[in-house]
Amino acid sequence: MNSAGYIPEDKIEEVRLAADVVDVVGKRVRLTQKGRDYWGLCPFHGDKDPSLKVDRGRATWHCFGCGEGGSVFTFVMKDEGLSFPEAVRELAARYGVDLPAPKLSPAQRKQMELRDRLLRVLEMAGKFFIQRLNSPLGQAARQYLFERRGLDGETGEAFGLGYAPDAWEDLGRYLADKQVPQELAVQAGLVINRDKGSGAYDRFRGRVMFPIRDAGGRVVSFGGRIMGDGEPKYMNGPESPVFSKSRTLYNLDQARPAMRKKDRALVVEGYFDVITCAAHGFAEAVAPMGTALTAEQVRRLRGQASEAVLVFDGDQAGLKAATRSLPVFLAEDMPARVLLLPQGEDPDTFLRKNGAEAFTQAVEQARPLVEMALDSLMENGDLTTPEGKSRVVGEAGAVLKAIKDPVPRWLYLERLARRLGLPAQVAAARLGLPLPPQAGTPQARPRPPRRGAGFCFDDERCLLELALASPQAASQLRREGVLDELVDPQLDAVAAAVRRILERGGQPSPAAVMDALEDPSLAGLVGQLAEAAPSLAPESLGQQVEGYLQARARKLAQGELTALKQAIMAADQAGDQERVRRLQERRREIQVSHLRPQSKEE
Ligand code: UTP
Ligand code: MN
Repeated sequence: MNSAGYIPEDKIEEVRLAADVVDVVGKRVRLTQKGRDYWGLCPFHGDKDPSLKVDRGRATWHCFGCGEGGSVFTFVMKDEGLSFPEAVRELAARYGVDLPAPKLSPAQRKQMELRDRLLRVLEMAGKFFIQRLNSPLGQAARQYLFERRGLDGETGEAFGLGYAPDAWEDLGRYLADKQVPQELAVQAGLVINRDKGSGAYDRFRGRVMFPIRDAGGRVVSFGGRIMGDGEPKYMNGPESPVFSKSRTLYNLDQARPAMRKKDRALVVEGYFDVITCAAHGFAEAVAPMGTALTAEQVRRLRGQASEAVLVFDGDQAGLKAATRSLPVFLAEDMPARVLLLPQGEDPDTFLRKNGAEAFTQAVEQARPLVEMALDSLMENGDLTTPEGKSRVVGEAGAVLKAIKDPVPRWLYLERLARRLGLPAQVAAARLGLPLPPQAGTPQARPRPPRRGAGFCFDDERCLLELALASPQAASQLRREGVLDELVDPQLDAVAAAVRRILERGGQPSPAAVMDALEDPSLAGLVGQLAEAAPSLAPESLGQQVEGYLQARARKLAQGELTALKQAIMAADQAGDQERVRRLQERRREIQVSHLRPQSKEE
């Protein structure tokens, strides 16, 4: 855990300057220079034509295919599944910027040391189990893995498979000999304290052992399977300071490169499924720890591939497991498809029986998770009565409303409506979902015309374009309070990032703004705004800012005039001539100071 921790702003800037964006992105994808910019295949979606643009001057990247974009840090975060401070530290190390060691409280330091010691003990245990598998004691286990389960030696080694002999104090004695305190072995989940006396016994006995590694490839726990029948079939280590079941995905460390290359993640149920997938060329397979997928696990997948394919046994349990994971995928906005294998088969048995080619074909046939869930609602609903159909539409609403992208949302709604024999508009009305605009009606508010040197004063976008084009403009706009009054929520979030940087005394370059966003998915918007920002001389930018501020003042004045007009009428009706006179005076002041220049122009 030497990766997190506070990093001072100026150090972050130093790393940003040292880490050339063309170099960083170029390490991952081949870039070709075209004019001022560099282009390559986007690693974050199935890109066929280069749609990833890298802009060295702005130190940003943007994909015109999937809309992702950001700074060097965002790229490394996404590419390697790191947090922001982790990405900064990673690039600092790569480009030789010295960062101060993270300041830790005594409690944090103690926790970090404990984690290091646990990881060392778990690593020792992993080696010990491998040694046991290869020893005379491991004969039956070798037969189980390499004959009954059909694995080859190379795969066994790649997954670090081992064996815990059927003895009460085998690993425990070994660790004690190596001076590992018993309490540490207990915390690592390897031994269990005896109820009576002071001794401990091995948790895993007579089982083939699967080391569970974290995303960085360190052993954090073990799973053990009994050879043959017996209960429980599988045993996993307990939660510990280094092992969290809800966060861990089995094999994520080894699957990540393949996930990126194939731009998909395979999610299977068990250890053997993952291993047999890998042995047949499906290295992108991972499994949760015998539980339903959590949001954290889906988030880890989303960073690596643009879709997940869930592969389940073709029974009711498989269907149920798939349905259970739907809300998580929707909430995390990750597309998922589902493959239900023939009854009684799992990826392990299917692959061994039918081979890789058949599995590839089956994966291609996998159906979108949403489609499957909606079909299952229709299959289980009463479609014989109007009321029954309405109920099905209502139930489907929970699924449809959770789909963030309006395009698939509408298409799934249409499909559902068609199957129920309803016009899509009626189903949408039942759910209170917005209708798509009719042909002929304007789709969106037209952009106000730009004036003079490409300036449009009535547009919040233009305001941010100016703020991103020059730090001086940004400071001035902030002083005038205009960065606080944006109406559009997304633009307001960008403005908030600009404000935060200025408040810290920083310069709101597009890259810095991207990193300061609370919602990193807005980085693409910042890229667009920076793209559109007029590349003008500073004095011209100054004029534009002035123009914006005057226009704003006129608008405010206009609003005040409307209010004054009503107040004058009300005062007149009330017979308060003194008040009428004061209000009229105020109106003349406003007209003189704000509205003359405009009426001259027009
Ligand atoms: P399955 O029982 O479907 O296992 O459990 P499998 O992988 O097909 O097992 P084999 O092929 O019979 O060896 C799937 C996963 O659920 C968890 C394990 O992670 C397992 O890989 N599990 C299962 C447990 O944690 N405990 C159990 O008792 C059973
Ligand atoms: Mn199985």
